[in-house]
Amino acid sequence: MTHTQKSLGEQNYEQFAERYAAAVETKAHNAYYERPATLSLLPEVEGLQVLDAGCGPGIYTEWLLKRGAQVVACDVTPQMVEITRRRVGNLAEIHQADITQSLTFAVDAAFDIVLCSLVLDYINDWQPVFKEFFRVLRSGGTLIFSCGHPTGDYLYTQRKQLTPGNYFNVEKFVTEWSGFGEPYPVITSYRRPLQATLNPLFKVGFILDEILEPKPIPQFEEANPEDYNRLMREPGFLCVRACKLC
Ligand SMILES: C[S@@+](CC[C@H](N)C(=O)[O-])C[C@H]1O[C@@H](n2cnc3c(N)ncnc32)[C@H](O)[C@@H]1O
Repeated sequence: MTHTQKSLGEQNYEQFAERYAAAVETKAHNAYYERPATLSLLPEVEGLQVLDAGCGPGIYTEWLLKRGAQVVACDVTPQMVEITRRRVGNLAEIHQADITQSLTFAVDAAFDIVLCSLVLDYINDWQPVFKEFFRVLRSGGTLIFSCGHPTGDYLYTQRKQLTPGNYFNVEKFVTEWSGFGEPYPVITSYRRPLQATLNPLFKVGFILDEILEPKPIPQFEEANPEDYNRLMREPGFLCVRACKLC
């Protein structure tokens, strides 16, 4: 990729990085839904080396540091890198890096855990990304990621008529997010079937350990009753834990 060609992730998040950072600490979809589920897949992290891949505003990075992990964080969007630096200072090693490329800042087997929350939805081909995560994990290390749920994303894109609509394809779709104030950011993502979500893991050597199709926690209901009722009936996110040679 040339330096004039921005990745999809950067195009999406440079529009509203500060607004995203301000909202997601307490936004129901993150605070009462995705984060509790993803965090429940993490082991005790004290003393562990963790890569926060696609760290965004650094909420997970800060959470990990507070629990005694040694954290390397990276994100493709310069504004997000800056916000994470502001949040944690020099307590973590922070890089501007695109996870679809080689992670040149990391030697082989550098990490016990790779955490990649809500990042892969902006990447078409996951296999090279998982291959690089596999390389930087030590033997016995763990990859934890969250993404749009294959069924939930399919239902969402059908409801909003965003794609021609074939569950079995990896499809790009564009939508506006209204939950972060105006101007509404225009977000381009990929949705994919279950086989395109899990098979790239197996192809590079990961073993599936656990998946979660989480439901929102009770505090969500007061914040957003309409979405709460829907998410208690149909999935929004998928959280996955996979191991390297466990
Ligand atoms: C929804 S935010 C999630 C941030 C954080 N992981 C969290 O859950 O709080 C998505 C982040 O992924 C980053 N991102 C998207 N594509 C990326 C890529 N190819 N490489 C690195 N970061 C990427 C974006 O810049 C953005 O900060």
